Amino acid sequence: MILNPKGGSGKTTIATNLAAYYANKGRLAALIDYDSQGSSTRWLNKRPESANPIHGITSSENRTGLTRSFLMRVPQEIERVIVDTPAAFQKHELIEFTRNADKIVIPVLPSDIDIHAATHTIADLLLTAKISRYENRLTVVANRVKSNTIVFRSLMRFLESLDIPVSAVLRDTQNYIRSAELGLGLHELPPAQVAKDLLQWEKLVNWLEHDDKQPVYSPAMVPAGHSCPQTQPDRVVKSPLFEGPVERSL
Ligand SMILES: Nc1ncnc2c1ncn2[C@@H]1O[C@H](COP(=O)(O)OP(=O)(O)OP(=O)(O)O)[C@@H](O)[C@H]1O
Ligand SMILES: [Mg+2]
Repeated sequence: MILNPKGGSGKTTIATNLAAYYANKGRLAALIDYDSQGSSTRWLNKRPESANPIHGITSSENRTGLTRSFLMRVPQEIERVIVDTPAAFQKHELIEFTRNADKIVIPVLPSDIDIHAATHTIADLLLTAKISRYENRLTVVANRVKSNTIVFRSLMRFLESLDIPVSAVLRDTQNYIRSAELGLGLHELPPAQVAKDLLQWEKLVNWLEHDDKQPVYSPAMVPAGHSCPQTQPDRVVKSPLFEGPVERSL
């Protein structure tokens, strides 16, 4: 389940890419669109016939008992169910949303507003939905990251203070926008174009599939005295966090 009531944090992007990832690994995947905006469903409708199929299940207007009724519509042979959730929902719906989720992925953007909103989301997950940190069901994905900016480092410090694993750091790139337009996932674009992104995705999938305990990031990985060149966004910086020089968004 991909969840964050903050709009535009990357829920649909991660849900659709995850579904495409599994479809390309030969897994039978279902994509449940819990959002009445229907963004995941629109993406699925654009998907070319030649692409590996994904079973789509679309939202109804009535949210009562929704996850239960959705799950009843998942064919038995499906191996991975990915749920895209809406922005802004009631606290009591959180319990319903998360009850059956094996893994809950919270995408967070590096911005003050998003960091602030994420504190509420995570508090609600821990206190209202009563998900324990130790169940290993929660992970955060830092999304649309422009590395070595001050706000990215603030985000990572904040996430570390929560003691919730950061399973992936996804860079800000037009690859997501281009693939979405075609109804494809990153894993279905020419490999040379998305090589850096695929490495980032591997970490998320490792966590989902194997409860990978390897931290993706810790402040200790940033060399002492390393500057945060927010005022030099064009600079290409090598950081131990990333596999190669970080490209500016295209
Ligand atoms: N890593 C990324 N790099 C570049 N663009 C991105 C990235 N992640 C998401 N986007 C873009 O950001 C926008 C918002 O993403 P998305 O629709 O996935 O968010 P959302 O959380 O599902 O939004 P909503 O709350 O409205 O459902 C989209 O245009 C998407 O293509
Ligand atoms: Mg969405």
